Amino acid sequence: MAILDILSFPDPRLRIEASPVVAFDAALQRLIGDMKETMYAESGIGLAATQVNEHRQLLVMDMSETRDQFRVFINPELTFASGSETCEEGCLSVPGVYAEVSRASEIGVRAQNPDGSYFDATLKGLDAVCLQHEMDHLKGKLFVDYLSPLKRMMVRKKLEKRKRKGGEGAVTL
Ligand code: NI
Repeated sequence: MAILDILSFPDPRLRIEASPVVAFDAALQRLIGDMKETMYAESGIGLAATQVNEHRQLLVMDMSETRDQFRVFINPELTFASGSETCEEGCLSVPGVYAEVSRASEIGVRAQNPDGSYFDATLKGLDAVCLQHEMDHLKGKLFVDYLSPLKRMMVRKKLEKRKRKGGEGAVTL
């Protein structure tokens, strides 16, 4: 396995829409393994293939504190969405920036496993938020898109500043 480079906002490649996964082959298993290693190395709770410049409908997640509940969603589609919840979100592609976003509080999803078999799941609370965030990545959408243009410009400036300084300081908007 290998740790992959993660694209950072405003890299235009984060805007590419992912294509469905059609081959559940060894190359796919390798990519899943690399994404798993990358997500854990970066202490992330979710990672979409788009973020590692692989434009396929694949995302991985682990919402557990024990970091042992690894989940894979391939070609995910929402079957329902209900309720509303506002959470502070962050993203490995927008490092150090956190902002409140409103999303559905409960969702149903139909997706495929690494072997191509289908499964259905219902997710609530933070699990639902994370999956919606990662599914957005596959459509070329980022959580900062939900912010006002002014706040988004602030995010861009903070990231440029952060890059220049090489700093780790967190920013909350
Ligand atoms: Ni993200």
